[in-house]
Amino acid sequence: MNDLLPEAAARWCVVEETARQVLEAYAYREIRFPIIESTELFARSIGDATDIVEKEMYTFEDRNGDSLTLRPEGTAGCVRAGISNGLLHNQIQRLWYVGPMFRHEKPQRGRLRQFHQIGVEAFGMAGPAIDAELILLCARLWRALGVSGLRLQLNSLGTPPARAAYRDTLVAYLQKHAAVLDDDSRRRLDKNPLRVLDSKNPALQDVIAGAPNLAQHLDDESRRHFAALCQALDAAGVTYEVNPRLVRGLDYYTRTVFEWITDELGAQSAVCAGGRYDGLVTLLGGQATPAAGFAIGLERVVELLTQQQGASVASSAQVYVATLGEASMLPALALAERLRDASLRVECDAGDAGLKSQLKRADRSGARLALLVGETERARGVVAVKDLRQDAPQTDVAVADVVDYVTRYLK
Ligand code: HAM
Repeated sequence: MNDLLPEAAARWCVVEETARQVLEAYAYREIRFPIIESTELFARSIGDATDIVEKEMYTFEDRNGDSLTLRPEGTAGCVRAGISNGLLHNQIQRLWYVGPMFRHEKPQRGRLRQFHQIGVEAFGMAGPAIDAELILLCARLWRALGVSGLRLQLNSLGTPPARAAYRDTLVAYLQKHAAVLDDDSRRRLDKNPLRVLDSKNPALQDVIAGAPNLAQHLDDESRRHFAALCQALDAAGVTYEVNPRLVRGLDYYTRTVFEWITDELGAQSAVCAGGRYDGLVTLLGGQATPAAGFAIGLERVVELLTQQQGASVASSAQVYVATLGEASMLPALALAERLRDASLRVECDAGDAGLKSQLKRADRSGARLALLVGETERARGVVAVKDLRQDAPQTDVAVADVVDYVTRYLK
């Protein structure tokens, strides 16, 4: 669980603000729901046999003896909130959220126990157009952020009956190769055999490569849905790779699944992932509602941006007001307020350090100008203005003119 220091927070703000603008361009509306929900909600949604539910949830009993869990992802809570508040039945909803998620995973680069997602969920639209919209939204966000090198991987998991039939074929195949499987895969064979396809163990790659292909077991409607999505992406000029091994680690998906991946972050390559989950609303007690969505891992996007664009420029002061002598304090505070009235970002000295250390501090603040308010200046009704970034002589400006002068100077 990381602390987010001011330098990094500035980049986070840029990502969140850009995402907000892109989401508004697609008419998505923000929703906020609790960080803690009943354990049952996550177990049902994500699936009992998934890694998340089996071993990664922060689960505890509250004072009433109810089992609660810190949310490991946002889709379950979003659907629960949609049902509880009557937002979903016979309605179209485009929703998004941002916030912390918690998974007790083995911490490593790009994998944290408290991490943050921007999640996007669309309800009430069964056709492939909304799958395409979600992907176009991601593509637009990557362009707006200036992030490069992300590759889109796509797959279709079909309907639950088609997947169940495929599952049987897959299990029969894997059982024939049981001797080669590692412990993890053998365990998954009973509970969640599709996840064996996801194994990163090099010793299993040959068996995985030879496994029956899910694409050949899709039902007709899922096949058409997937073809239409691919067509829509082609028409929009979005490039993608169909990856028949993409199965995702949460059980609620049906049909389309996708991930945006990068080669630049080491093993944790997925920056954004999601798909369609047409059965989840019913599973959680709502009326049947088609749905699709995705979530972006904020830490991973921020790390990628930092790698590609260098450290962020911290949102900094434009003007530093230095004060000399106790009697300068009130005029300096008043001056700083007038500058802020003119929409300038101002850091005003609030200590009793000497001029030299104040100028050092002014330099570190990122400000372009330092304004000096001292006894001699006050006596003459002026403020001394010093450009901290250029070797120019200091100028005295009449107090009444300072705001105008600074505004024009910084333009
Ligand atoms: P997910 O694949 O579990 O999907 O997570 C989505 C993204 O969150 C990942 O691609 C990754 O960028 C980030 N992420 C996940 N775990 C961690 C971690 N431990 N540390 C840092 N980043 C992490 C979901 O959560 C689904 N709810 C997505 C979705 C929304 N599907 C439909 N709607």
